[in-house]
Amino acid sequence: MTTHQHIDFDTPTNLSHRFDSCRAHSLRICRNLTPEDSVPQVAEFVSPMKWHLAHTTWFFETFILKPHLSGYSEFDPEFAFLFNSYYVSAGKRHTRNLRGLITRPDLAQVYAYRTYVDEHMGRLLEQNCSDAEQLTELGINHEQQHQELMLTDLKYLFWHNPLLPAYDQQLRLQRQVGSDAPMVDISEGIYEIGHAGAGFAYDNESPKHRVFLSEAKLCSEVASNQLMLDFIENGGYQNPLLWHDAGYAWVQQSQQTCPLYWYEQDDGARLSYHLSGAEPIDPTGVLTHINAFEAHALAEFSGMRLPTEFEHEVAASKLAVGKCWEWTSSSYLPYPGFKAAEGALGEYNGKFMINQSVLRGFSAATSPGHNRSTYRNFFPTDASWQFTGLRLAAR
Ligand SMILES: [Fe+2]
Repeated sequence: MTTHQHIDFDTPTNLSHRFDSCRAHSLRICRNLTPEDSVPQVAEFVSPMKWHLAHTTWFFETFILKPHLSGYSEFDPEFAFLFNSYYVSAGKRHTRNLRGLITRPDLAQVYAYRTYVDEHMGRLLEQNCSDAEQLTELGINHEQQHQELMLTDLKYLFWHNPLLPAYDQQLRLQRQVGSDAPMVDISEGIYEIGHAGAGFAYDNESPKHRVFLSEAKLCSEVASNQLMLDFIENGGYQNPLLWHDAGYAWVQQSQQTCPLYWYEQDDGARLSYHLSGAEPIDPTGVLTHINAFEAHALAEFSGMRLPTEFEHEVAASKLAVGKCWEWTSSSYLPYPGFKAAEGALGEYNGKFMINQSVLRGFSAATSPGHNRSTYRNFFPTDASWQFTGLRLAAR
């Protein structure tokens, strides 16, 4: 495998260059994969690489080319059914957990679909239509989200291969926790939360509004693997007093005794699987791949708590971020005055604002430039296949 260029990826300022660059990055993620790597779907919550490559293309075709490029005709009218994800108002779609059965169209046809849509996007962007440009901005951000999903879905796929193959031996996504980690103080007061003004942001980051915060102290660093090692050593997974009711029910049902991707060899050595291959667990490495239940239990075990998403946003400039997505104690809810976009794109974020928790920061797998202090990621509380960890706050 050749060196992955993920970290060195540049972010040009011109929109059509950024479009090309973003599209090229998805191909780069897949360039060392075989067609066999690109089709299986291990679980409903992950998708095959072929599907990601096609779905991100469908997004540009459906929401940008069809309404804004006159005379555009679809590459293949049947693709809308196969590659629409969850946009109910955009038409009927394939069942989510059967994406791995789409052996036809083959991978070459999906690449041809990408080329066709890219060429037409190039033509459209020459017309300087501001509506199309705004939607292209959204399409680029959408594809960047999928680029992180591609890496996490590949990790989950390869983890289910008995040989535990490396995706790319050079790709180091495991970060270190800094040794000097002072607490960051937040003073009691009223703070402005959310996005307003220039620059791209998702609708769920608006409107900007005021929030009252009590005095708080947040760790400047995220938690390390050592915390999880101590938790396991002290019977954390077996202690109901540390868990939410739903969390403990998840432990019992899943029989979980360590985080996803951790395992023990026959000689008792504890290892963790990474996209670069399996390695002994580094106690100073950033703890990742825990769900919201585990994050809460680890905070309880530490005599601490998880920050709220608002505390995180207020303190963000003083925190070491970008090592993992950080579970907060905040439920994913609309901000006061939130209004979803009209039409099918209103389904992008708003309809998920129940039964999910907010994650802040960004991870080592996040596409470059795809982060802001107001960014609200969200996942169900039992999801752990993303690069998710935690930051502690004083009670
Ligand atoms: Fe999507």
